[in-house]
Amino acid sequence: MCGIVAYIGDKPALPVLIQGLRRLEYRGYDSAGVALLNGDSIERVRSVGKIDFLTDKVKTRPPAGTLGIAHTRWATHGGVTEENAHPHVALDGKLAVVHNGIIENYRELKEQLAGVNFVSQTDTEVLAHLIGRHYHGDLRSAVQQALAHVRGTYGLVVMHADHPDQLVAARLGSPLVIGIGEGEHYLASDATPILPYTKKVVFLEDGEVADVSRAALETFNLKDETVAKHVEEIDWDQTQAEKQGYPHFMLKEIFDQPTVFQDAVRGRYDLTEGTGRLGGINLTEEEMRRINRVVFIACGTASYAAMIGKYAFERLVGIPAEVDVASEFRYRDPVVDDRTLVFAISQSGETADTLAAVREAKRKGAFVRGIVNVVGSTIARETDGGTYIHAGPELAVASTKAYTNMVAIMLLYALQFGRLRRVSIATGQRLLSALREIPEKMKAILAQSDEIRSMAEEYIRHRDMLFLGRGINYPVALEGSLKLKEISYIHAEAYPGGEMKHGPIALLSPDFPVMAIMTRNQLYDKMRSNIEEVRARGARVILIATVGDDRAREISDRIVYVPETMELLEPLLNTIPLQLFAYHAAVALGKDVDRPRNLAKSVTVE
Ligand code: F6R
Repeated sequence: MCGIVAYIGDKPALPVLIQGLRRLEYRGYDSAGVALLNGDSIERVRSVGKIDFLTDKVKTRPPAGTLGIAHTRWATHGGVTEENAHPHVALDGKLAVVHNGIIENYRELKEQLAGVNFVSQTDTEVLAHLIGRHYHGDLRSAVQQALAHVRGTYGLVVMHADHPDQLVAARLGSPLVIGIGEGEHYLASDATPILPYTKKVVFLEDGEVADVSRAALETFNLKDETVAKHVEEIDWDQTQAEKQGYPHFMLKEIFDQPTVFQDAVRGRYDLTEGTGRLGGINLTEEEMRRINRVVFIACGTASYAAMIGKYAFERLVGIPAEVDVASEFRYRDPVVDDRTLVFAISQSGETADTLAAVREAKRKGAFVRGIVNVVGSTIARETDGGTYIHAGPELAVASTKAYTNMVAIMLLYALQFGRLRRVSIATGQRLLSALREIPEKMKAILAQSDEIRSMAEEYIRHRDMLFLGRGINYPVALEGSLKLKEISYIHAEAYPGGEMKHGPIALLSPDFPVMAIMTRNQLYDKMRSNIEEVRARGARVILIATVGDDRAREISDRIVYVPETMELLEPLLNTIPLQLFAYHAAVALGKDVDRPRNLAKSVTVE
């Protein structure tokens, strides 16, 4: 998400920090800042916008010093303002912190920090003051003690004006790399800013704290026991480093899914009560019970994620739910009223049609809430509440990890509403327990990437492909076909399995293969019959089936096995092989995977 750079050595720190921020700008880009130790005080400069704005600001009076920390922000808490930009300070500006990740219990911690005058809305400022509270002359110990009270994720670096030869870094869930130079150290949230200076690095692991001086690097756990670290040599070039070794952003983002899924759901459910806990809905329980219809508005991939929301609301809440493509909704004179809840779903938060649909729904008196990735985006600001999906910057044009996180948030919303109506505590708990198992199950699918590549390579000679799914897997088929066509330019379409015999079956032939999702759920037998129909026409079949379903192999030419989960959660898993299939097909065809022709990441025009 955000990017951290820090330096301690004998060179002027500012150019190292600014260069480093530029190299990290791909991670987050809404504001940036630096803090340097100049004599016995910390000088801090921050700016909203690109790194260029920060460089303009430091040009006239560049902060001096050979020790400093820097940050480029991608907002998670609080809007995009200079006050919210990092570094954050405590102890009257003597202690400065940069932080990536999310402190889940920052509200509770804030309440405990009585007497502190907070100047930002960020969780990081709370963390800075918490470390300040524990500081009694020993910086490392203050960080360790403070972190013992923190719930959430962090990669952080701390400096203190009274410690001119010390930086303290810590990691839990948010990466930190330390580069080792001659009498100097570089710290960063990935290796990109470090590569021009040294290839020797140490990767901090979760729960580790690094105490870094010019001459030495020591690592500890939170109990202050020494941890021995292995120094590694990395040989990535610059672009590889930005992609953390992946050849394309799309593949990196597909592989990000287990991690960012956890970022989406963490702290947003209550296992004891078996319910979702999304405060952003901004409705009282009474208002939630009064809602008698839900309308999802979105475009493209977000609209397919929305279809899963529709199934979830119908099943768990028992009220009518529908999905409207935003470009249609805005001109259709939609029927909504003050008992309708409209969810606008968007990765960028800037899609012109979705925004226009938001305005239309508000005009008609509906409750309008956002499910958005980019913090502070227009849709996030114009909706009267909602939830950020915390997928981090999505740089490949084809959406992958944002889709998964949108689905996760809609499932939690459906559960939260459902628990006020017909879902029992036991059902809620079962769903949440299954949700917690998703990241490991995603990893089991990602581990089959090479196998899926060989399938894709075998199928790219076809010019057309049909995707089939039923029930909750119909939107998965739609998403799989969109992924394939938009990056590989293979023509693909998706149909509900039962609809095939009403027309598309005419297309089938040995040259027109079918990708079908036939996982074990209530429609398994129906789907199986549809696949038999496909095979009777001589078409080749790739199946997505449940682990252990050996009979599925008999009716497929190629098969990908996915772990079993509750039916409502299946799209969180079943979409991943389709993302990988599209990715590998596009690579094998030599297409520009991250920037497919004619497409833009953020469609801000109608
Ligand atoms: C497909 C894709 C697009 C977007 C659509 C909506 O991979 O990325 O279909 O999903 O343009 O964009 P957002 O979610 O930014 O509103």
